[in-house]
Parts: sequence; structure tokens; C-alpha cells
Amino acid sequence: MQSEVRKRLLDAFTNSDEEFLSGQYLAELIGCSRTAVWKHMEDLRKEGFELEAVRRKGYRIVKVPEKITDNEIRLGLTTKRLGQQIHYEESVHSTQAIALKLSMDGAPEGTIVIAEEQTSGRGRLNREWHSAKYTGIWMSILLRPNLLPQQAPQLTLITAVAVVQAIEELTPLLPQIKWPNDILINGKKITGILTELQAESDRINSVTIGIGINVNQDSFPPELESIASSLLIEGGEKVNRARLIQTLLTKLETLYDLYLKEGFYPIKLLWEGYAVTIGKKITARMLKETIEGKAIGITDDGVLLLEDDKGVIHSIYSADIELQN
Ligand code: BTN
Repeated sequence: MQSEVRKRLLDAFTNSDEEFLSGQYLAELIGCSRTAVWKHMEDLRKEGFELEAVRRKGYRIVKVPEKITDNEIRLGLTTKRLGQQIHYEESVHSTQAIALKLSMDGAPEGTIVIAEEQTSGRGRLNREWHSAKYTGIWMSILLRPNLLPQQAPQLTLITAVAVVQAIEELTPLLPQIKWPNDILINGKKITGILTELQAESDRINSVTIGIGINVNQDSFPPELESIASSLLIEGGEKVNRARLIQTLLTKLETLYDLYLKEGFYPIKLLWEGYAVTIGKKITARMLKETIEGKAIGITDDGVLLLEDDKGVIHSIYSADIELQN
């Protein structure tokens, strides 16, 4: 539907005191046939508008879609790089795959891919990531930092801090970070971050940071209920997803610039302030072994340090972490 016609149609409903507007009235207003009005209304329905059509009364908008649009994200976005190119999709397998393709086609740093739904959303270790339609933020951000490949995990920690700051700015909730990539509220997972690297041995070509935020889900499938939650469930209020994306991009750009200028140390201090893992007894499950002990901190490179019962300190680069009570 041409955007001008759509705007006039939606304005007619916005500005009218009447609940129902007749097809005849809308046709005259827009300057088209009643059949054309019907087609326009069907287009709106396909876009997620809930409409009621009653004979002799006309049309009524019952509910506007929960969708976000790329224009909604652009409007008011003050970042210089992140989000300057937005690829918005209704339904995809995974935003990571699209971002990777864009990266290989030379897309600039800061390009983002957002989808309303992922049919094969993935988490770390190729686990499935539940990405229901119109409820969460399923987004991949393309970065091209001038860093060594081994520094890439630091970007996960930077992103985690940005997500926490964005949630804190828009809600009264107090998220915490579970090393390396989980954001928890009241012990349940709200956000996961998946950092994937396209690199040669001594330089990064691009990094794709995948962020999944559970925002407005009011329930989860039974198998996830005990471990996952959403901002709506924890805070009792829906959160505007477009604003959360804008806030997140702004926070991330500020932290990323700070990191590129001053290194990881200032980020580490911020990260530690939000970390739920540090000082706790944990179990770290790795591919080849499982170690139990106390998480005593992260290194300046973002590696987790775990002290076992014998006082031996282990550097944990990648693991599943379980917090013990
Ligand atoms: C994890 O906790 O294991 C990481 C989850 C990452 C999910 C996001 S959603 C957007 C992007 N696309 C994907 O398929 N995965 C990431």
C-alpha cells in the first residue's frame, strides 16, 4: 500500500470521534473506490492490525499491531554508526545468518538486522533460541573492530553491560550478568548474547553480535518456564521494543567507543558491578571437564577466574556456568 494512502487512512481513524468509519466515507476521503478501501484494509490486517468490519457501519480498528518498523527505530536514533543501516525482516531463520551474509557482501560497521520472528534462532553451542513473533528483540549487530581475534569475547561482555544499562534506563528492573553472556532478572534468563567471529589468524574481519531479549512475552513453553522470563513478566508492564533497541544501540556505541579508546579496563569495572557470578560458588561445565569452585573475578581480557577447593586458580575461556546456592 502506498504510504501516503496508508497515512491518510490511519489519520482518518486517529482524528475521528466515531468508532466506525464507513467504506463510502473512507473512499471519498482518499479518492478511491470502496473496493480499493477494502483492499487497503486487508493490507492493514495482513500487517497485524486487528480490524472489525460491520455491515452498514463500516470499519473499526480494534488493535494496532505489536510490530516495530525500521522507521520507528530510525526516528530519534542519535548514534553515529550503530543502526545507520537497518535490515528489518518479518520472519527469518536467524538474524545471525543474514548479518553474516551482509558482512561478506561488505556491509559497513554498525549494520543491524532485526526480525519480528526467527524460525531457527540459535544460541551458544547451537542450542535453539526461542524467538516468538512480535514479543522480543531478535537482532544481530555487525562490527568491524581493529582487534585481535582473541579479544572478541570482550565484545560479548561490552554488549552485556549495554543491555543491562538499556533495561535499567527504561524499566525499574535490576538485571544481572551471569558470565559470559546471560542477563538474568530474579534468577531467570532475559537475554542471551551470541558473538560470532569472521577472522584470519591475526585480524578480525567482522564480528556478528546476536542479541536476544525477551521483552513482552506473557508466558513461555513449559520446558523454558523455570529458566526464562521476560521484562513484561518481571516488571508487570510492556516495554516499547523500538525504544529499547534505540537505547541499547546508544549505550553500546558509547561503551564500544570507550573500549576502542581506553581498552577493556573501564568496561571490566562496569561489568563487575553487574555480575552475579563473582564471589559465588559455581560449577563450570566445559567440553572436556567440569570444575567446581569460587568465581573470583575476570581478567583484563574478560576470562573468568575460578578458584577450586585446593586453591588452584583456573582460567575459564568458555563454559556453561551454574550458580550454586
Ligand atoms: C545464548 O544465550 O545462547 C545466545 C542467544 C542469542 C540469541 C540471538 S537472537 C538474535 C540472534 N539470532 C540468532 O539466531 N541468535 C541470536
